[in-house]
Amino acid sequence: MTYTESALAQTKALRQKDRVRILALETSCDETAASIVENGRTIVSNIVFSQIDLHALYGGVVPEIASRAHVEACDRVVDEALRAAGMTLQDVDALAVTHGPGLVGALLTGVSCMKGLAYAANKPLIAVNHIEGHVSANYISNPDLKPSFVCLVVSGGHSHIVRVEDYGVYTLLGQTTDDAAGEAFDKAARVLTLPYPGGPRIDALAEEGNPHFLPLPHPHVPGRYDYSFSGMKTAFLNAANKLEMKGEPLPKADMAASFRHAVVSSLVEKAILAAKETHAPALAMAGGVSANRLLRRMMQEEADKAGIPLYMPNLNLCTDNAAMIASAAYYRLMRGETAALTLNATPALRLV
Ligand code: KG4
Ligand code: ZN
Repeated sequence: MTYTESALAQTKALRQKDRVRILALETSCDETAASIVENGRTIVSNIVFSQIDLHALYGGVVPEIASRAHVEACDRVVDEALRAAGMTLQDVDALAVTHGPGLVGALLTGVSCMKGLAYAANKPLIAVNHIEGHVSANYISNPDLKPSFVCLVVSGGHSHIVRVEDYGVYTLLGQTTDDAAGEAFDKAARVLTLPYPGGPRIDALAEEGNPHFLPLPHPHVPGRYDYSFSGMKTAFLNAANKLEMKGEPLPKADMAASFRHAVVSSLVEKAILAAKETHAPALAMAGGVSANRLLRRMMQEEADKAGIPLYMPNLNLCTDNAAMIASAAYYRLMRGETAALTLNATPALRLV
């Protein structure tokens, strides 16, 4: 039997199996992560190797350094995930890997590693969209959450409002017309000379600051559920330059708090509006920025006021990890969607 025939037969059988355990690998950006998740909902093991220290010196992710670090780390994180689960590769039912969006070299490392393992172990392989992974982190943290719901996806490259119609079925409601929220946080952090990664630093500093110190413009956008962060970013940069020209020290905490407040207010306002107007049964959040403390607090307050149940991933599942990839993979496997060994990286892969 060829690999393809065997994978097809196994996939058919797995759709009837009670306990399906998937080993996933995530290497789309600067985290090398491997995880085993049962039935898309329960973490058996979850290993994340962060490359932050390797990139901090350069103030951001250096793609070539990321690829090399993934090559060195991917075997190790896979071994650790198996060891932590007390399993061997043969105990796993299927393998999964992120194939986009992300840095091409980084993605290729993971895709090649998992194609090799899938062929060697003769297991089905599932290709997962990284953003679908972020959405699926909600299925792990909230065992009762089922589609349909509206989801705010906010990461380094995305600020989207989507409707999750069913597992793996998405409709776009709105998106940013310029920067992503995470990108805006990272750029503002650079203005305040905070080290990479900027988002969490701004968030921590903002807890001590006055959010009304700096008035920032409210964006004008074409769509009812669209975002724009470039105007805020420019106003923020101009204010910092003015203070510097006057020789005044930057009130970093107040500036961080003002910027965070402007970005988060906008995120919350549109997400709640979209959920209300589309009569969503629930609202969820996903992506690195959903770890933002003010976003979590403000969204909870507004969702409570609107009477909409709110779901979010646990903090450790907001940023990049492989458990979310294994969760998304489970629902793809249940639909019979497996990848061929010709699978390639797709750096600009879209969710919708
Ligand atoms: O989802 P993620 O880990 O990677 C991508 O898929 O892009 O998101 C990373 C982004 C970065 O821009 C980072 O600064 C931002 O999420 N981020 C935060 C926080 N934690 C991570 N932004 C604001 N507040 C945070 N607490
Ligand atoms: Zn991510």
